[in-house]
Amino acid sequence: MSMSWIDEKAHRELARIREAKEKQLYPLFREFESGGLHTTVAGKPIINFSSNDYLGLTNHPKVKEAAKKAVDKYACGLSSSRVQATTTEHVELEARLAKWFGYPKCLLFTTGYQAMLGTIAALADEKTTLVLDSYSHACILDGTFLAAGVPKKSPEIRFFNHNSSKSLERILKTRERENALVLIEGVYSLDGDKGHVKDFVEICERYNTPLVVDDAHGTGTLGPNGKGIVEEMGLEGRVPILVSTFSKTFGGIGGILLGSEEVVDHVKNSARSFLFSASLPVPIVAAASTILDMLEADGPAMVRELQQKAAYMRGKLVEAGFDLGASNTHIMPVMCRDERKALFMHTALFECGVLAVPIVYPGVKVGEERLRINITRGHTQEDMDTLLELLKSYGEAFFVLSGEELGPMEA
Ligand SMILES: Cc1ncc(COP(=O)(O)O)c(C=O)c1O
Repeated sequence: MSMSWIDEKAHRELARIREAKEKQLYPLFREFESGGLHTTVAGKPIINFSSNDYLGLTNHPKVKEAAKKAVDKYACGLSSSRVQATTTEHVELEARLAKWFGYPKCLLFTTGYQAMLGTIAALADEKTTLVLDSYSHACILDGTFLAAGVPKKSPEIRFFNHNSSKSLERILKTRERENALVLIEGVYSLDGDKGHVKDFVEICERYNTPLVVDDAHGTGTLGPNGKGIVEEMGLEGRVPILVSTFSKTFGGIGGILLGSEEVVDHVKNSARSFLFSASLPVPIVAAASTILDMLEADGPAMVRELQQKAAYMRGKLVEAGFDLGASNTHIMPVMCRDERKALFMHTALFECGVLAVPIVYPGVKVGEERLRINITRGHTQEDMDTLLELLKSYGEAFFVLSGEELGPMEA
């Protein structure tokens, strides 16, 4: 078959990736040969510091056992969307999650990405200005662009400077539409900094504007019981919509929407990403439900352990002279500020059995390239010290610590 324009386009677009692969510096899609933080890639042991399994519960025997039992009863799929494939297990878990997070109602989506898409698209219309933090996650951006593309409904879209309440207030004052919906995150996933949620709640209350918080990375990691940024900042009852996920602390995959009875019911009956995509498999529901049991029984101790480990790592990295950007959580970007430095660091660490994924343009701006480190409760002291020693050695070798320019490399 002759080359069509799609083959030509794909070839052209893949140039950067081809080049990285040729230089053996392509860092993504590594193939794990087992689950867990300690796995192997091509037979080689690897400690994973790019996992979002923040409380280390994904591979807990009780969680796997619950999923196996659910396979026997419900198999791996329900072969339809929630409209005609809802189980008592879905509904029970929704009720438990609503109670645990402290909201009137919960709706489970098949992914967090879909939860955000569906929520934005169900709420935004021609009378709405969607107001977004400039560092918003892809699910917030895509939900916004999706809503904007709906004929006769397209909302106005405005961005405010990352975490700036002044900038948000300016947008709320100058918006063109009658209603505004503000969208922020509890913890920003590439920088590891907390959203200034308290300030934003106060502004939104003053402007009578609902606030949506995506707490994918705060769930299980922040607040005395791990309920997230709302609990940590004492904002119970003041964040109208919370969105989270099962793909991090909750050990599987799935989206969580929390809000008032009617708002959640409206999203349930109109969000296309909910109505037209298969329902969450019950083994996944069972796994998340078991993790919720554990959080209810033992949440405070587990969250404390994660926070102690993160504090240890942060202290050591800062002491060694690393720049961690704006991070103030368990997510720590080791700033390299140079694409080659980030890729070389990644490759060197990987060769030594440690996986830390580099984030380069277009994931972040040029000059903000980094190695993203996630500390989880599942990492041992030895894991963290291994990472630390490697970061120090290669941080020196590749001038990440000194900030000197990396000269041309001999082939
Ligand atoms: C901030 C944020 N929101 C939403 C998501 C999407 O969640 P999920 O993996 O459940 O689709 C992620 C995860 O990638 C995330 O980091």
